[in-house]
Amino acid sequence: MKPIYLDYNATTPIDPRVAEAMLPYIREHFGNPSSNHFYGRATKDAVGNSRKQVADMLHCKPEEIVFTSGGSESNNLAIKGVAYAYQKKGNHIITSSIEHPAVSEVCRFLETRGFDVTYVPVDEHGLVDLKQLEESITPKTTLITIMHANNEVGTIEPITEIAEIAHRNGILIHTDCAQSIGKVPVYVDELRVDLLSLAGHKLYAPKGIGALYIRSGVKLEKQIHGAGHEMGWRAGTENVIEIAGLGKACALVTEESERTHLQTGNLRDKLQNGLREAFPDIRINGHPEKRLPNTASISFPNIAANEIIDKLKNIATSAGAACHSGGVTISPTLKAMNVPPEYAKGTIRFSTGRFTTEREIDEALEEIVAVVKELA
Ligand SMILES: Cc1ncc(COP(=O)(O)O)c(C=O)c1O
Repeated sequence: MKPIYLDYNATTPIDPRVAEAMLPYIREHFGNPSSNHFYGRATKDAVGNSRKQVADMLHCKPEEIVFTSGGSESNNLAIKGVAYAYQKKGNHIITSSIEHPAVSEVCRFLETRGFDVTYVPVDEHGLVDLKQLEESITPKTTLITIMHANNEVGTIEPITEIAEIAHRNGILIHTDCAQSIGKVPVYVDELRVDLLSLAGHKLYAPKGIGALYIRSGVKLEKQIHGAGHEMGWRAGTENVIEIAGLGKACALVTEESERTHLQTGNLRDKLQNGLREAFPDIRINGHPEKRLPNTASISFPNIAANEIIDKLKNIATSAGAACHSGGVTISPTLKAMNVPPEYAKGTIRFSTGRFTTEREIDEALEEIVAVVKELA
């Protein structure tokens, strides 16, 4: 029997309908989308169709979507792209203290190249401090990059308000939506951002594909030089098979998101409430309301997360702290949120998804309760 999968924030399985949409481009249509003949036209049409499906999901124009190899590349293109294209205006970037390494490490790299970065703190729920964010703006600030939803605790940042602050000060705003798309509504006309990253493997498409939304008029220094693919933004013959999959996955998000949000939320709540009932002293991390409906970051006091995970034979999930010979390393996100160490070290992230069932949650609850009781 396969373990119950409660790690949808790490990655999602490929939806069978997505796999189906990719098959013609594996079996039949192999042409280079740049070739001006029958074979090329078939794949060029597929890429164009997918671009429209991504754009329809985000409420933007197809020509504002560039396909990349995933969330990391989209973030690199957005952040380094703005940093270098607007270098004459200034060399200052603002981000938060709880970004995924796909953003924070890009910022750290830029610091080694003469850029200044401000890492704005968050409160105990993981919400960015807007006052400090605004106070950190200088005449040299060119970009604010803040994630839409945090991958570990699920807190949803007030991106529309941050965009308003950015634009009032003549600054561009980028948001990493790798975790939020498919879990909560994500529309560029509501968030009002200039750049938005998404990762296919978090929304039931394959790994190794993603996209960047680039609002018309924004300049970027391109990161992959070569031929003029992707409207000149990113060189390389298009990954047609996965682009077809990403397009279908986005169409499914557009069609089914409401049902998925409700279902994953109900199941997450069932798990969370069941654990709270069995262990009243657990801590549920992240914002009580402004949180992804599928994410439950739970801290069990005075037990190491890895000890629990090692004993959970039938559940696949992630630890918020890693044990090694030198002790326990607590994740930067939990540290930034000031989660007390005796709680932080026992933090496990459970994340539900499209294929989670009520029966799985019942079984998971039973097993987690038994394991934690044994270790407590
Ligand atoms: C918030 C966030 N941003 C970016 C990424 C990286 O995406 P990819 O694995 O497609 O490069 C992840 C993946 O874990 C993520 O959770």
